[in-house]
Amino acid sequence: MTTTGKPLYIVLVGAPGAGKGTQAHLLTQDLGIAPVASGDLFREHLSKQTELGLLAKQYMDRGELVPDDVTIRMVMDRLERPDCEKGAILDGFPRTVAQAEALDKELAAKGQKVALVPYIKVGEPALVARLSGRWICRQCGAVYHTLFNPPKQPGVCDICGGELYQRPDDKEETVRHRLQVYFEQTLPLIDYYRERGLLVEINGEQAIEDVHRDLLAAIQKVMS
Ligand code: AP5
Repeated sequence: MTTTGKPLYIVLVGAPGAGKGTQAHLLTQDLGIAPVASGDLFREHLSKQTELGLLAKQYMDRGELVPDDVTIRMVMDRLERPDCEKGAILDGFPRTVAQAEALDKELAAKGQKVALVPYIKVGEPALVARLSGRWICRQCGAVYHTLFNPPKQPGVCDICGGELYQRPDDKEETVRHRLQVYFEQTLPLIDYYRERGLLVEINGEQAIEDVHRDLLAAIQKVMS
């Protein structure tokens, strides 16, 4: 929530492995607003074997983007839930200019808008290393890394004690394709938000706590 009492919408952008999910979880604790991650929503659907989940799986397994129409509908429905009353930290959505336009339109209809778009910048070699060592909690979604952010006990979440797992699309071959898709389809989004004066670049090749500090400072500026 901003000082004007309006909901706060932050859009985290960055390549696969840039640290969007890691930082979204930290920012949620600081700001008390919900993280909304499109990838997590698809994985939730898949775990329940819904029609949407099974459709998304066909794209996710190949490292391709899920079609805009289904993705937009799913995220817009999520933003209507009560825990998004104070806004949301969007992670992985929008990922195309069409998705960004749909989000702007939906928010404008409620007299709201995106407040800031932090672009977490990380070079390709670091991205591949990060994704291949990633472990995620099945229960609360907390993100770990074998080398850069290991859990206290291997395979167990520090926060909730849940079981940690590795994503099937983190295989090196799929990671390389996800990066290619990102450069082709998501990079134009950076210009979309830069032209609207919303983009702020964050050096994502620092330690997790330093990226977090820079992000929080940028967000606090727009909240005041
Ligand atoms: P999604 O789940 O959104 O994956 P992604 O964008 O590829 O991003 P990741 O979750 O892989 O990375 P991240 O930036 O969150 O990094 P993390 O914090 O985990 O999407 C998956 C698929 O779903 C897509 O391929 C597509 O098919 C579909 N999809 C999703 N959204 C869609 C949309 N809008 N439209 C269409 N299709 C969509 O960090 C990675 C690792 O690095 C972790 O191990 C972490 O511990 C470590 N780490 C993080 N920060 C640091 C640091 N500063 N230093 C060292 N290590 C770090």
